[in-house]
Amino acid sequence: MKTAITQQQTATQQFYQDVVKGLTGTPKYLQSKYFYDAAGDALFQQIMRTPEYYLTRCELEILSTQTVAMADALGATPFSLVELGAGDASKSFYLLEELHRRNPEQAYFPIDISENIIAQLQNTLPVKLPGLQVQGLRGEYIDMLETVDYLSARRKVVMFMGGSIGNFTPEEAVKFCRRLREQMKPGDLLLIGFDLRKQPQLILDAYNDRQGITRDFNLNLLTRINRELGADFDINQFHHFPTYDPLTGACKSYLVSNTDQQVQLGEHLIRFKKDEPVFMEISQKYSVEETRQLANAAGFRPVQYFFDGRRWFTDVLWELSQSHNAL
Ligand code: AVI
Repeated sequence: MKTAITQQQTATQQFYQDVVKGLTGTPKYLQSKYFYDAAGDALFQQIMRTPEYYLTRCELEILSTQTVAMADALGATPFSLVELGAGDASKSFYLLEELHRRNPEQAYFPIDISENIIAQLQNTLPVKLPGLQVQGLRGEYIDMLETVDYLSARRKVVMFMGGSIGNFTPEEAVKFCRRLREQMKPGDLLLIGFDLRKQPQLILDAYNDRQGITRDFNLNLLTRINRELGADFDINQFHHFPTYDPLTGACKSYLVSNTDQQVQLGEHLIRFKKDEPVFMEISQKYSVEETRQLANAAGFRPVQYFFDGRRWFTDVLWELSQSHNAL
């Protein structure tokens, strides 16, 4: 059994290796999963409240207005509700409330990378919804999904909301969904959220808010690297550059070096040319047809679509497709 300290050391080592790999590669990149330290969590909360970032409001509309239809679609046989990247569960709360009304002992397994978030959910949810069986799991999604099977014999309904699937490239998304499918059995369901293709400017603006919070969210990763890995980035020497390609649906963010400069990272001296980009994040946008193709490629079959009024976002319910048992 690893102690909390050795777990933290392993996590820091992994963080260091990933950052070195990304910044010594060509082109340079950083992994967006590292955005979410405490400051990054707080900035993301602020992004969700900006007028430009429509995703959260669209999904909230879906969950708050179609709660009964969604709960009906999940079926009457008892199940464990597993949420990947639960966050503060403010959106899923609507669904939880309805499920709890139908079965006061509904089981809920929020999975998150943040210990803080897990502790908070375990403390607050059973007070708001007495009887709800909350078992938070901290760790990587796929590993924790396997753990759920040891903890509960019920079928699983897995939620992967917020459009987080967009933070994988389309190829990575297929691989990730296949891995999810490997952890699922016939009768299990996946409720997955996609940000849909729409007028390109609306998408670009969502990642380029006027208050500059998305800029700070990206730059915060450099601050985190300075603090946790002892690097010496001057964050004033980089600027945020978001792009959206309406042909591919890829919305990508970069940090661009303002000048020729070098940064010390452990034993590595990283050189940046003036105008050199560091690729930070992809937020892939999908057409409904592309979500169908992803389901098919990963061994799922769409059962029901839930859209917001403008059809900007969809939460789709997928079941395992019978023809992919061999995957
Ligand atoms: C978490 N994820 C779905 C967000 C997105 O829209 O890709 C992260 C984000 N990055 C910049 N703004 C929001």
